[in-house]
Amino acid sequence: MIQSMKIGKSNVNAPKLVLGTFGMGGGTSWQDTTKDDQELIDLIRQAYDLGVWGLDTAPVYGTGRSESIVGQAVKGRREKYFISTKCSLNWRNTEGTFTYTRDGHSVYNNFSKASIIKDVEESLKRMETDYIDLMIIHRCPKAEEFGEVMEAMDELKKRQLIRATGLSNVGLSGHPVEALDTCLQYGELDLLQEGGSLLKRAYTEDMIQYCEKHQITYQAHSSLEKGILTGRILKEAVSWTGDNRSKYKWFQPENLPKVETLLKGLGKIAEKYNCSTAALSLAWLHNKSECVNLLVGARKLTHLKDSLQSLELTLSAEDMEAMNRLSDAANQ
Ligand SMILES: NC(=O)c1ccc[n+]([C@@H]2O[C@H](COP(=O)([O-])OP(=O)(O)OC[C@H]3O[C@@H](n4cnc5c(N)ncnc54)[C@H](OP(=O)(O)O)[C@@H]3O)[C@@H](O)[C@H]2O)c1
Repeated sequence: MIQSMKIGKSNVNAPKLVLGTFGMGGGTSWQDTTKDDQELIDLIRQAYDLGVWGLDTAPVYGTGRSESIVGQAVKGRREKYFISTKCSLNWRNTEGTFTYTRDGHSVYNNFSKASIIKDVEESLKRMETDYIDLMIIHRCPKAEEFGEVMEAMDELKKRQLIRATGLSNVGLSGHPVEALDTCLQYGELDLLQEGGSLLKRAYTEDMIQYCEKHQITYQAHSSLEKGILTGRILKEAVSWTGDNRSKYKWFQPENLPKVETLLKGLGKIAEKYNCSTAALSLAWLHNKSECVNLLVGARKLTHLKDSLQSLELTLSAEDMEAMNRLSDAANQ
């Protein structure tokens, strides 16, 4: 089994690498999903045999599909898993702020206490479980909204429906450090799930530093830049209208030459460690700090197996520095 680590100051244990299930939701966000539910349930069960006992999901991933697949996959051995899901984004009514349309549903972001509690109750039902190990606030509240959100989290903990609290997408607030400071004024934050990777080096390093200082676990989402760092440049994603990746910086045709140069450089370093550029990029993250928890999305067991190799890699300071330089050059 993958080695465990404590999440923030909580008593919750998580594996050092968690499998992300955004892609498993398919729909308009991940249009290259061809697998049916049973194949994905089998994949999660096979992943467990490889030692993967952590799963990250969200209500909006496939508007309920990903949570439902996770619930079915862990049936009968729920207590062996670490499961995180999210709250605030929902499509059950038009209250809150309209955020986007997904799979034909209008998704609203609602930070009211009643809505957050309803989100969690719906997730529990969808996953057929009594508790969630880590509840992540999917979007970052405004300063004046934090009090109510953290009150909801506190009540959910008291009701033993959730065990630890996470926050996501503070970068979208425009002032990540201020948003994090505000959050900490109102309660305990155990984990930050934030877009981060070798390609977002400066921001990733800032967030890691903040988390180290406050004993928060740092979990980068899209740590492979949605597949870019794997070397499987999904050029076709650019033409998928509405696909999550078609809007993404590194999938834009004008950035592909920079990505190719980066991958060439990473490939040379990866050769030394006998690993893929994906495993190397993940290793860069966990070699940064003990507070890092890896999160990686996969719908193929071969991909997951490959990413798991990152946990065994200790990179030299020289290679970490060389990777920093490659990232800086791509970002110029
Ligand atoms: N809080 C948030 O707002 C937020 C936002 C985005 C993501 N997340 C979470 O973070 C997780 C990870 O992010 P992500 O799934 O968006 O992107 P990601 O982990 O950066 O990349 C996933 C992509 O990389 C491919 N892949 C993974 N490992 C590989 C390997 N070793 N070799 C080749 N290809 C490999 C996967 O292919 P296959 O699928 O074909 O295996 C998939 O296309 C999500 O699943 C979700 O749980 C959270």
